[in-house]
Amino acid sequence: GGDQAKQESKVLRVGSAIDFAPFEFQDEGQKEYQGFDMDLIRAVAKEMGSEAEIQNIGFDGLIPALQAKNIDVIISGMTINDERKQKVNFSDPYYQSGLTMVVRSDEEAIKSFQDLKGHKVAVQIGTTSANMVKEMEGVTVTELNTPADCFMELKARGVDAVVNDRPVNDYYIKQTQAVGVKSLEDKLSAEDYGIAMAKDNAELQKKVNEALKKLHDNGEYDKIYQKWFGA
Ligand code: ARG
Repeated sequence: GGDQAKQESKVLRVGSAIDFAPFEFQDEGQKEYQGFDMDLIRAVAKEMGSEAEIQNIGFDGLIPALQAKNIDVIISGMTINDERKQKVNFSDPYYQSGLTMVVRSDEEAIKSFQDLKGHKVAVQIGTTSANMVKEMEGVTVTELNTPADCFMELKARGVDAVVNDRPVNDYYIKQTQAVGVKSLEDKLSAEDYGIAMAKDNAELQKKVNEALKKLHDNGEYDKIYQKWFGA
């Protein structure tokens, strides 16, 4: 029947917002999506005997796409939190992250999150950064589609700071020759990333967790980690 056909299907439909280097991004002139999450989900799929077919979906459209059954899993640097757990199942955590800020190099007034009061801040729409900053008193929040849009707005002096995930901020500063901006040390929160699946698919959650465990045990996870975050 239909269930059996589903089980035998060899494609794992993956949704990701391809705007988050070094987790998911696309280099100019290259058609393959790249990054830590991309390597990890391809390895997870392989471990499950299937192949990852990755779709680029805006971050705030990912959970709706999962709920509409247009995709089987989300991997997108997505933080595991209670609000999202109402809507999706998460795998075991696969990466420890957190939030930091990027400001212009000549910024004197903003050194920590406490200094944001009275300032304008850009965040990616639908993210934990957006939630956190919107709760801060006296902060004017601009929600944009991608972190790249946020960094552009910062350079254009439309905002004074960008709040975003630490590894993405650090990579942006290091790899993209970001001129005129710097990333600050102060951390707003610790967050764990998880792979998300539909609530009614406990079977898939189990399989993904088993695959993740295998990749930890056989050293494949470490290899992927070193490739993107090693010295
Ligand atoms: N970790 C943050 C969150 O879950 C941001 C993730 C953004 N991911 C992306 N691919 N743009 O809300």
